Amino acid sequence: MTDPPREYRLYRDLAGWWPLISPVAEYAEEAAWLTEVLSSAPTAVRQVLDLGSGGGHLAVHLKGRFALTLVDRSEEMLAVSRALNPECTHRQGDMRTIRLGRAFDAVLVHDAVDYMTSEADLRQVIETAFAHCRPGGIALFVPDHVAETFRARRGQGGGDDASGRHARFRERTWDPDPADTWVQAEYEFVLEEPDGTVEVVQEAHRLGLFGRDTWLRLLADAGFEADAGFEADAGFEADAGFEADAGSEADAGLEPGSGPDGDEPHNLFTGRRPAEPRAAGSPDNTKR
Ligand SMILES: C[S@@+](CC[C@H](N)C(=O)[O-])C[C@H]1O[C@@H](n2cnc3c(N)ncnc32)[C@H](O)[C@@H]1O
Repeated sequence: MTDPPREYRLYRDLAGWWPLISPVAEYAEEAAWLTEVLSSAPTAVRQVLDLGSGGGHLAVHLKGRFALTLVDRSEEMLAVSRALNPECTHRQGDMRTIRLGRAFDAVLVHDAVDYMTSEADLRQVIETAFAHCRPGGIALFVPDHVAETFRARRGQGGGDDASGRHARFRERTWDPDPADTWVQAEYEFVLEEPDGTVEVVQEAHRLGLFGRDTWLRLLADAGFEADAGFEADAGFEADAGFEADAGSEADAGLEPGSGPDGDEPHNLFTGRRPAEPRAAGSPDNTKR
């Protein structure tokens, strides 16, 4: 099996198609859920760091409530996000290694965490989150796939824009080798320019697949108090864009999906960074 490219075309020269391939509206429901999770954190959350923020489609729905700093490795995806979210701070960097030199009330690592395909990479991202989480703060990790609930699946979607561009895609996600820590998402994008020019692009992405125990262990190793919540039996709801797979893989447990990021159940791993213990002899400000 050949190594995947360092960066996929979807996030490079095709980034301008992101708003058609993965429309902003599709993030509203998940953003509402994450807003609820962040708002029920033990300490107030205002400053939020989003690692792997992509085109900023999730950020669109969060920025009214939180002050967002958005980090992505791809300058092209950051450009899409800057146009949508000019009021947010944007930084280019790798979520495994970036150090911004400041701490946030919360760190969010949404679907981009799926691009961590080895335990070493996942460990580094969790360490980055810890480094940017203030004592008493919270880190949320929302992978699309978790080993315990992974199912092979097909999906499709797409949209138009005002300029007359039209994008469609089909997706198949499956696990070539259940013994390793990644699955493969195969995409076919059909991209039509306003003048009728059509480009068809196929590319396969590797996405990480880790079990709950691995997640919890890595979170604890980094210094977080770790918690896991995911809906093992969550029902998959087919979108208008979903086309049920009637092919030969029907027996392989294929599940419907609707976008590159799909309608998977919500997976959530939470890390709470313990508040710093009071230095010996310092006044106890809680007793007044
Ligand atoms: C599915 S997109 C994220 C979409 C995003 N949730 C949104 O709201 O638009 C995945 C993103 O992860 C980014 N990414 C992948 N590996 C990364 C890494 N090591 N560091 C930072 N960003 C990374 C890609 O550049 C891409 O923009």
